[in-house]
Amino acid sequence: ENESSVSITVVGASGDLAKKKIFPALFALYYEGCLPKHFTVFGYARSKMTDAELRNMVSKTLTCRIDQRENCGEKMDQFLKRCFYHSGQYDSQEHFEALDKKLKEHEGGRESNRLFYLSIPPNIFIDAVKCASSSASAASGWTRVIVEKPFGRDSESSAALTKALKQYLTEDQIFRIDHYLGKELVENLSVLRFSNLIFEPLWSRQYIRNVQLIFSEDFGTEGRGGYFDNYGIIRDIMQNHLLQILALFAMETPVSLDAEDIRNEKVKVLRSMRTLRLEDVVIGQYKSHTRGGVTHPGYTDDKTVPKDSVTPTFAAAALFIDNARWDGVPFLMKAGKALHNRSAEIRVQFRHVPGNLYNRNIGTDLDQATNELVIRVQPDEAIYLKINNKVPGLGMRLDRSNLNLLYSTRYSKEIPDAYERLLLDAIEGERRLFIRSDELDAAWSLFTPVLKELEEKRTIPEYYPYGSRGPVGAHYLAARYKVRWGDLG
Ligand code: BG6
Repeated sequence: ENESSVSITVVGASGDLAKKKIFPALFALYYEGCLPKHFTVFGYARSKMTDAELRNMVSKTLTCRIDQRENCGEKMDQFLKRCFYHSGQYDSQEHFEALDKKLKEHEGGRESNRLFYLSIPPNIFIDAVKCASSSASAASGWTRVIVEKPFGRDSESSAALTKALKQYLTEDQIFRIDHYLGKELVENLSVLRFSNLIFEPLWSRQYIRNVQLIFSEDFGTEGRGGYFDNYGIIRDIMQNHLLQILALFAMETPVSLDAEDIRNEKVKVLRSMRTLRLEDVVIGQYKSHTRGGVTHPGYTDDKTVPKDSVTPTFAAAALFIDNARWDGVPFLMKAGKALHNRSAEIRVQFRHVPGNLYNRNIGTDLDQATNELVIRVQPDEAIYLKINNKVPGLGMRLDRSNLNLLYSTRYSKEIPDAYERLLLDAIEGERRLFIRSDELDAAWSLFTPVLKELEEKRTIPEYYPYGSRGPVGAHYLAARYKVRWGDLG
């Protein structure tokens, strides 16, 4: 095993994702000593570039995390020496054959294992898979392909993509990334729930009143309008990132921690969900806004976005799981761009204490008295629990205080980027955090009818100013289910 080689070919090497995430993650893994002894990184793209030029491009993206400063420059040089470039078209067998030759030279007769990371637009995806698998797959060891969303835009196109992929690859060669699954606090969800007696028994409709999955960004789609306008926030964030978190949160206890056992439970819970209805969705789009003398552009001010676009940059939705554990519990999602802050969190609101002795000491707002567990995925990773507590003093007044686990004070280690974990897992063949095709089908079936209806009717989004808290429609939607968004206090 030690003498086998692993090559990682980043197809679409000059793209944004490659520069921002993939190369830096590979370097971090190298720094940590996680990459195999004989590894090579190849950048593959259309533009002409020499190895030296690629190294120069990559070197600009590398940083050393705070706890990794030692020998950082030296390590970077060593890493860069293992990086090479190959220029080729994405649909050319010949160009992939030439890549194959170079890979063979690097493998030097060792067992070859090849990972292809496809960081390219969906329209050239299948051609690249076809060429890579037929002209450059490993002669002896494994060949794996990491693919990034969009995995289609609805049930039909996703099924067609899966079918096309399976002409060239088997399901266990396909690693569909959802980078939210690689985030530290998302990984921790199962630990929190399944290894703490004080949480596990509470994880059901009996004690939980509602669950909220909230994603917000304080910047718009600047520069990505062309991609975004074809997808919208429901496809960009909800159908994948938030739904994946929901599935992990709500699944039944898996038989074991094996990838198949976990993914079986995730599919089961996704299949138990009710198809989202139009009346349970609110959509919004941001408008230009001037604050403190600075004007932030509206979504349709982006040159790559049609002036009359009704693509949502914000959405809120109420989802339900029709099974014994979650019957009647609203799972509320909210996702938006160009809002007042950047954050991703899971909020679990518990029921009222029946016959609470202290109700009158809490004031009139009973909602304020329920417990709430907050898992802040980012930034400032934290887990905190809101409890009722007596305000010290001679009287009897209660307030809500936090039992607070803030990662930055508890752990001195920097939290790895999601892509580090995911790349390492793909190299090691660990599939737990990747999306299986049946999960993907189930996820699309939930959202496809509503997406079609919104598009057929050209539903006008509720406009909200750049930098605001989003459309008020989100409050009415929550209120219909007697819920108040936890992030708004
Ligand atoms: C991507 C979306 O999947 O996730 C982007 O396409 C979004 O629109 C990004 O900005 C958010 O990821 P993170 O890790 O920065 O929260």
